[in-house]
Amino acid sequence: MTAVLTKKKTAKKGTAAKKKAVRKKLSKRRDGAPETAKSKLYASLVVQLLSLLKGEHDFIANAANFSALLFNSLPNVNWAGFYFLQGEELVLGPFQGNPACVRIPMGKGVCGVAAQQLETIIVPNVHEFPGHIACDVASNSEIVVPLFDGERLLGVLDLDSPLIGRFDDQDAEGLNELATVFVGHEEGLGV
Ligand code: SME
Repeated sequence: MTAVLTKKKTAKKGTAAKKKAVRKKLSKRRDGAPETAKSKLYASLVVQLLSLLKGEHDFIANAANFSALLFNSLPNVNWAGFYFLQGEELVLGPFQGNPACVRIPMGKGVCGVAAQQLETIIVPNVHEFPGHIACDVASNSEIVVPLFDGERLLGVLDLDSPLIGRFDDQDAEGLNELATVFVGHEEGLGV
């Protein structure tokens, strides 16, 4: 229905608008969602991550390179890294950015809540998140993506930004896809 309405609307427009509409149509992704600068960046990061992982199965080395890729490729990010589940707490893993708190109990901070709820959490303003754990005073927004090996929680991927509202649903989608690629590469290795 939406596609039909869009087509009718664009048919009345001038040449420039028609060209724009064609470009938009051509740039549709395979899942039907429109391609944006952000989705293109994440698609390119998937390719780069696969290249970094190729032929290497050291989990720590791969996690370190993954965090460096994110930190250096995503704009306005001041921390990118991992916390891995050990018993009932999350323990700091490879990361890029300022030194961070080492242990986060389940249910505490953004990381602990994401791990407990098994859900990606986007926090537009960390100062409004009850129990947020401040590791870097520069951080104003945050996204935390749980990592799964099948149904088993491995830990979380955490990114901070100095910008309020830096992360949106496209970041959540892109980071979840990257996390799936990363964990999938390690499958069967007893991580
Ligand atoms: N802010 C996180 C702690 C980790 S740092 O951001 C690196 C939290 O509230 O869980």
